[in-house]
Amino acid sequence: MANPIIQVQEVNKEYGRGKKTVAALKDVDIEIFPGEFVSVLGPSGCGKSTLLHVMAGLEQPTSGRVLLDGVDVTLISERDLPKVRAQKIGFVFQSFLLIEDLTAFENIEAVLWPSDELKKDKQQAMALEVLREVDMLERKDHFPRQLSGGEQQRVAIARALVNSPPILFCDEPTGNLDSKTGDTIMKVIKRINKERNMTVVLVTHNEELAKYAKRTLRMRDGRITSDR
Ligand SMILES: Nc1ncnc2c1ncn2[C@@H]1O[C@H](COP(=O)(O)OP(=O)(O)OP(=O)(O)O)[C@@H](O)[C@H]1O
Ligand SMILES: [Mg+2]
Repeated sequence: MANPIIQVQEVNKEYGRGKKTVAALKDVDIEIFPGEFVSVLGPSGCGKSTLLHVMAGLEQPTSGRVLLDGVDVTLISERDLPKVRAQKIGFVFQSFLLIEDLTAFENIEAVLWPSDELKKDKQQAMALEVLREVDMLERKDHFPRQLSGGEQQRVAIARALVNSPPILFCDEPTGNLDSKTGDTIMKVIKRINKERNMTVVLVTHNEELAKYAKRTLRMRDGRITSDR
């Protein structure tokens, strides 16, 4: 069997200090293998986003380790973290987080990580390729305000793919969309998981959406309560 691509080991995360301390993650242990599609399901405030941020190296755990591809992200310097993130992960947010005064294409171009091997024109071709992959090539010169929510989220997904990272993290990616558009987005994510054999970890509070994944981690009050 392959090595896990994500390892969360004895992770605790506390916010604040003293009497106001909130324990957002409690003794969390998870192993995720390459190509898996895992959903994290639980009620509001149970720690789903915190877990995703800690997994992605966006936040430091209070204790414990997080390994991506065998690399301990809690030990990487502030200076090197952006590069590691760009190479290893794509992140899709509930609120899309596109830059308003850039077109769809420019939003993707903006995150291209400089590469020694790939020339600029080859990288730009990759930006077009990911737009095609989410069926947004024809709208590449549109600004976010000219796109529907579902279209904006498809651009955000393309942006998450453009550096070809092995892992895709999605935090309530359909939370701002109607259910029909949400299903379309879930199908896009499912297809990417299959066709790219990309590891996907998707956070949701919706049982129906969690079913798109093969494996579901249930969370409650900062703990993983079931895994199957
Ligand atoms: N920056 C912060 N400072 C203090 N407490 C925080 C912070 N971020 C999160 N928390 C607390 O940690 C707990 C877990 O929050 P988290 O955002 O991970 O929940 P969630 O499961 O993603 O919820 P939702 O479904 O509403 O997005 C909550 O009690 C929250 O109030
Ligand atoms: Mg959240």
